[in-house]
Amino acid sequence: MIDINDIVFIPWDESKRLEIIGGLGPVRTWTEAQGRQTFGEDRDGVKPKRCRVMRGADGDLVGVAAYGTNDHHPAYLYAYVEVAEKYRRRGVGKRAFAEVCRLAGHDGRDFDTKYLLDTPAHRFAEAMGFFRIQLVREPIVDVGALPDRDYGVTEYEPAKEEVPDDAVEAWGRFYEATHTWSPPRERDLAIWREDFFSVRAGRFFEVRVAGKVVGVGFLNDSFSDDPQEDPHPIFAGCSVDPADPEGPAIVTAMLKAAAVYSEDGRLRIEMDESNRATVEAVEPAVVYEAPAADIAANARLA
Ligand SMILES: CC(C)(COP(=O)(O)OP(=O)(O)OC[C@H]1O[C@@H](n2cnc3c(N)ncnc32)[C@H](O)[C@@H]1OP(=O)(O)O)[C@@H](O)C(=O)NCCC(=O)NCCS
Repeated sequence: MIDINDIVFIPWDESKRLEIIGGLGPVRTWTEAQGRQTFGEDRDGVKPKRCRVMRGADGDLVGVAAYGTNDHHPAYLYAYVEVAEKYRRRGVGKRAFAEVCRLAGHDGRDFDTKYLLDTPAHRFAEAMGFFRIQLVREPIVDVGALPDRDYGVTEYEPAKEEVPDDAVEAWGRFYEATHTWSPPRERDLAIWREDFFSVRAGRFFEVRVAGKVVGVGFLNDSFSDDPQEDPHPIFAGCSVDPADPEGPAIVTAMLKAAAVYSEDGRLRIEMDESNRATVEAVEPAVVYEAPAADIAANARLA
């Protein structure tokens, strides 16, 4: 049993990371993997972050309550709460979110969060007052079934060091075009660069026409800790202008380049509804459409 009033909120201690992550267990979903990126020491300044480890009176790990900031959605603070399995459905998550709200008290921004449809996280977010803004699908696509396209694709690795400035800016423009609900704050190349490439090292692909970047994409390893679960690398990208008539062909060219890194030529595609060119490009080759529980939604507080 746990008495909510006994829970203590302790600032993150990096030297205890392994114990805390071990106590929570491996991530089960990519939204959890993304949420855990809020774990870490507090940060002030342009990208504030707070993280509290919840422990019971006996020191047992109960969960983590955190928020971070992200230049993808700078109008919001990204809230993430995780409760150890044995303590769930006892009001701990609710208590944790109250603490997240308290910690953010002076910031003035609302929260957003991300969850998979029809999961406890979805129900929990709704119970906390979040409503849905945008859906992200993640189908598995047989890239070999797509036609070859005549666009040259350049590839960078490691992404962080080598990607040219205009490609980073192109990603920013694409991002703005597909996130009108949460426009990025005034652009600064250093911020884009840090934000796009600090999350996890991946491969970066770009397509140029007459020297201008017209397509951008990332390829990352499977988010799952368990390679049996879904071994497919994850591609996320689009034509810089999602409405570009050549967009689907540009995306297809990047997928062909990325599929080389997949053992069976299949990729998992992370795409939200607004990535129109990507949706159109992959549709004919979808071999697995995730059930609702694998579809993520961005949500924000009313
Ligand atoms: C989502 C999570 C944090 C909920 O923690 P919790 O301690 O179980 O949540 P609470 O007991 O405080 O639940 C508060 C309300 O959320 C809703 N809720 C939470 N879990 C639910 C579930 N499994 N099914 C239906 N409703 C649920 C209910 O409305 C609940 O109120 P009630 O118990 O009075 O009905 C927990 O399941 C978790 O850690 N999941 C993995 C991490 C994650 O996905 N976090 C989501 C970030 S938005």
